[in-house]
Amino acid sequence: MKDYLEFFGFSDDPFKITPDSHYFFLSESHQEALSSLKYLVESEEGFAVIIGEPGTGKTLTVRKFIDDLSPDEVRFAYVLFPNLSPEELFEAILEDFGIKSEGETKNKLFAKLRDFLVNERKRGRKVLIIIDEAQNLPVETLEELRILSNLETSDTKLLQIILLGQPELEEKLNSQELRQLRQRITVFVKLRNFTEEETKAYIDFRISKAGRGNVKINPKTYGLVYKFSLGIPRLINILMERALMAAFVDSSHEIKPKHVERAAESVGLRVRKEGVSRNVVYLAVGGLILASLLFFAGTKVLEKNVRVEPVTQERKAVVIPELKTPEKGGEKIVYVSVPMLNMRERPSTDADVIYVLREGDELKVIENGPETWIKVFYSDGNFEIEGWVNGKYVRR
Ligand SMILES: Nc1ncnc2c1ncn2[C@@H]1O[C@H](COP(=O)(O)OP(=O)(O)OP(=O)(O)O)[C@@H](O)[C@H]1O
Ligand SMILES: [Mg+2]
Repeated sequence: MKDYLEFFGFSDDPFKITPDSHYFFLSESHQEALSSLKYLVESEEGFAVIIGEPGTGKTLTVRKFIDDLSPDEVRFAYVLFPNLSPEELFEAILEDFGIKSEGETKNKLFAKLRDFLVNERKRGRKVLIIIDEAQNLPVETLEELRILSNLETSDTKLLQIILLGQPELEEKLNSQELRQLRQRITVFVKLRNFTEEETKAYIDFRISKAGRGNVKINPKTYGLVYKFSLGIPRLINILMERALMAAFVDSSHEIKPKHVERAAESVGLRVRKEGVSRNVVYLAVGGLILASLLFFAGTKVLEKNVRVEPVTQERKAVVIPELKTPEKGGEKIVYVSVPMLNMRERPSTDADVIYVLREGDELKVIENGPETWIKVFYSDGNFEIEGWVNGKYVRR
């Protein structure tokens, strides 16, 4: 047990950021996702899609869902980091079901999977394929999954597929090539961030799960954590863990706003004395998302069929470039039309997130890039940044 946890009298680490389903907090949005997955299995429909920003709880939700499945009734394969060709994906799924299949052709692999599905059905079991980080699935592989999902007996489907992914997945699913798959999606859930009230309830819930101890949270602390984290659970955990450490260093059993500020600073955030400005908050989220990505690279999430691609190179800290405000007059103004929108260094979903914009933010369009990407400039007076966003998520 770490010193600071002992100091607070916890029996467990309340803000660990590995997906532990004992700590599952049923917010309205997570409840919706969980019951939709249950519905998918009961109704034997084709596809479910769960979309959420990084750290909103997609993996944990599916883990909780898996924990509640009865192995006598449902068999599942879980694939993570699926930047896989159709053959590789089929192999990964077969391997997870304990079927050897190396180096076989796509048709052979497909036939093996079909036989497996038919056999399971005969035994009265349902089969689920869960693909996490599905935004990384190539379009071609997604299309093969659709074909696989077509397998059915005279009255029911032989398998259900669950795709979990970041907002880029939705973008991918909207592409012309995948319109047939889109029609097969019967469950589509978007996980949203916690509200301020949920953030408070979440913090209290995790603390009580970890044995409560003798920790006291200053009422103002909750609001500050919410401001920094925007209600994203992983970011709340990172901030709260560090705030506990900061309080421990002060020998304080009370977690005060200053401890959260110190926590925020320790993950590379600038905190202004006069309060936390909105810009700093959003920059913070960008930074924390990078920090958490870094942390998570290489972390094994589920034991079954995990494909981990550790990121070895260090990610850069978020740097705000010196920018000149573009000249007024004649410029094109657009507004963010989704709750959160990643601004990236380059016009690609692989590029680093340098800032997170919110719905309604006003952007000046600097140039049009490849496909639907646009380079934009954002400012709210004190702070300026430019980068690339997907033009699908803005409106005039
Ligand atoms: N509903 C929840 N209850 C309790 N903890 C949660 C919840 N949602 C998220 N968390 C916490 O946040 C962490 C991040 O969640 P998770 O890994 O599921 O996010 P994700 O949406 O899969 O992110 P990514 O897109 O980066 O894979 C979890 O490990 C957990 O600690
Ligand atoms: Mg995940």
